[in-house]
Amino acid sequence: MAARYPPSLALSLLCLVAVLLAAATAAAPTVQGVSAERLFDQIEALGELSDTTPPSITRVLYTENDVRARDYVKGLMRDAGLEVREDSVGNIFGRLAGEDDSLAPVVSGSHTDAIPHSGKYDGVLGVLGAIEALRAIRESGVTTRRPLEALMFASEEPTRFGLSCIGSRAMCGRLDPDYLDTLRDENGTAFYEAVTSAGRGGGHENTASILSAALIPAGGIHAFVELHIEQGPLLEQEGLDIGVVTAIAAPASVSFDFLGNGGHAGALLMPYRKDAGLAAAELSLAVESWALGTKAIDTVATTGVLQVYPGAVNSVPRESHVEVDVRDIEEKRRDHVLDMIIKSAEQIADKRQCEMKYRIVNKDPPAPCADDVVAAVQDAADDLGFKSMRMVSRAYHDALFMAQIAPTGMIFVPCKGGVSHRPDEFSSKRDMENGVRTLALAMAKLAGVVEGEAAEGNGQERVVEGKSEL
Ligand code: GLV
Ligand code: MN
Ligand code: MN
Repeated sequence: MAARYPPSLALSLLCLVAVLLAAATAAAPTVQGVSAERLFDQIEALGELSDTTPPSITRVLYTENDVRARDYVKGLMRDAGLEVREDSVGNIFGRLAGEDDSLAPVVSGSHTDAIPHSGKYDGVLGVLGAIEALRAIRESGVTTRRPLEALMFASEEPTRFGLSCIGSRAMCGRLDPDYLDTLRDENGTAFYEAVTSAGRGGGHENTASILSAALIPAGGIHAFVELHIEQGPLLEQEGLDIGVVTAIAAPASVSFDFLGNGGHAGALLMPYRKDAGLAAAELSLAVESWALGTKAIDTVATTGVLQVYPGAVNSVPRESHVEVDVRDIEEKRRDHVLDMIIKSAEQIADKRQCEMKYRIVNKDPPAPCADDVVAAVQDAADDLGFKSMRMVSRAYHDALFMAQIAPTGMIFVPCKGGVSHRPDEFSSKRDMENGVRTLALAMAKLAGVVEGEAAEGNGQERVVEGKSEL
């Protein structure tokens, strides 16, 4: 090919390429030093703060292990050079100043609470990964125009009060204090008592003022990105590194209480029974059947709690309590399934002559991710040479609520066998490191790089300063 050009032109072209390469390299501070080893050690250390024996993890909002986990995370934030603050609800922020610190920050975070007998990675990767990303940005000498924040949300899981995402709902003003005050944990403790006895609450006198103190004002977050394990099998099956999330499915949950007559298992003859346990069992089957009935793979419904009282082998169940989770990418279809489940509960209660009460605990819309954040994540993954795919999140996340107040996106990394909410949940060091590197670069893009270029790795990746400014 070169023979087709005169020697002087070939030389000029060569010089031009050399100059361009030199310019690119000179303008390129790199985000280096993301350490999978450090991340892994921190995940293991956090795993020790559990009410069950690791690898089975149980960490419930405002319990002793949750409070210890909070202290641990704050310590990591400080070690990473971040300025730490905690709001009245217990959301914890670690901030890295931007060139213009008056601008709204680019934020990344997730949760460290863990449902009973779950694993070490759900949520934890997104909290520790955000801290690691900010540490790497700071230590690489990259300055962003906007501040960056790592965030640990209070209680993404619904374990304690039955309601998910208490911290993020509070931050975006989607949590009615009167409603929250009606919820109780299994010991009958209310939110206000739980939050204040854990040393949180900021001295406020009631739930309403705790929640309003945690509110993020409109425009208070420039962009939000959450890093999470996929909790599904697609990335692993496809041999991909990164999932670029485009939307989060719509979750709902509803609880039912049946009240029958109960009595002696030998003496109460079958025709005279009002068996609340069987009402619960029948409802569980109806839940499955309504979910399958849509014939859409995206509809899922689960009876995750089923309790009978008094719970003795020689006693006909007098009462039962059932909690049902329904989700779909399509809100209308989800709502239809929810309605049909409630109708079934009414019919079953009639048939079995039980009283029935139900309560819709939450019924949230799906969240589309913002184009600019999706683009920043996609660019970052491409720049770093990672193989990626666009995907929806079937699990909910705090990002579902952050999307209501800020342009939002998510980064998924593979987890072994797609397993989550189980003790054998696992993500490899390599996969986690890929996720944190993608996160760091995406955050830098969204925040605008001041000094040079937030490229990482072999020096061939590039970031155009402010390219992804929203
Ligand atoms: C979060 O843990 C969820 O249930 O999707
Ligand atoms: Mn979870
Ligand atoms: Mn999670």
